[in-house]
Amino acid sequence: MSMPVPIRLNLRMRLRHALPLMALAFGMGLLSLPAAALAEPLKIRFAHVVAQDTPKGLAVERFKTLVAERSGGRMVVEVYAGSSVYGDLDEMQALQAGAVEMLAPSLSKFGRVGFPEFELFDLPYLFDTLQDVHRITDGPLGARLLKSLERQGMVGLGFLDNGFKHMSANRPLLRPADFSGLRMRVQTSRVIAAQMRALGAVPVQLPFGATRQALARQVVQGTENPLSNFWTQGMHRVQSDLTLTGHAYLGYAVVTGQRFWRSLSPGDQRLLREALNDALRYGNQIADSQNSKALVSLRQAGTTAVHEPSAAQRQLLRDTVQTVHQQLGQRIGPQWIQDAHAALHRP
Ligand code: LMR
Repeated sequence: MSMPVPIRLNLRMRLRHALPLMALAFGMGLLSLPAAALAEPLKIRFAHVVAQDTPKGLAVERFKTLVAERSGGRMVVEVYAGSSVYGDLDEMQALQAGAVEMLAPSLSKFGRVGFPEFELFDLPYLFDTLQDVHRITDGPLGARLLKSLERQGMVGLGFLDNGFKHMSANRPLLRPADFSGLRMRVQTSRVIAAQMRALGAVPVQLPFGATRQALARQVVQGTENPLSNFWTQGMHRVQSDLTLTGHAYLGYAVVTGQRFWRSLSPGDQRLLREALNDALRYGNQIADSQNSKALVSLRQAGTTAVHEPSAAQRQLLRDTVQTVHQQLGQRIGPQWIQDAHAALHRP
């Protein structure tokens, strides 16, 4: 006589059989679970344009981890990095339309959407160090800038550093004459465009995600960026020379939409703010070392010659772009500039 074969279902099979039955039972109202157990996690889509191995990329990853941990999985940050879903041309609209919940555009990109005061951060040689920048971003002036974003239905949640920008091309850029007639890719800031014109170059506005290819095809011949962006975008493969000018700052504002923010409970707003503040603190701590690491990698790659301007060359570059401060003062707003100087303890 044959023995009945015991039916042993492994865990996955058991779940496969159990789940439809449970779903049926819930549907018939025979079973109930706490609402939280059934609810889908709250998805927070965070888009940005840079690579992961940059100060911004790493800070956003840290934010994602902290939110998952602290909400016990109730909230999930989904990161769209490297302009993969939205880039410079459409990310602000995507935020307004509710297609993403968070962004961290560079401060230079807020002028185009109605906040020319943010372009004060682009003024060449305004800051000597990141500590100088923090006198603004950590103080009342920074708070006012973030608050001003409410005008366009945004909530400004914080600032993040990348670092100081340097100039690249297929030639060294040590003196103003070296810039003559060069088409230089710039962000949408009018201050940056004026800076390039003051140097004798032709500014060409292009999205970040299109820059490397535009350099490769000679649509533009040079650009400016901090080292971490230069390296992670592979610009060292399409630019033979990098000049360490450190002429201006690049940083970010993290923003969300008012409609999304108001839909959250005060507790969830607090959780997100605290997680973001911790992530931004981390990002600011590693910004310098990420840029230094990129310089080491660049030198090792050996494809791009790295130039250091002499003190006299630095001074001439600085004097040449000084006019931009007066030229663009009206656009930025004289009061904002005056307040920035006061925060920097400058006359
Ligand atoms: C750029 O467009 O050059 C930068 O703003 C990219 C970034 O987000 O760092």
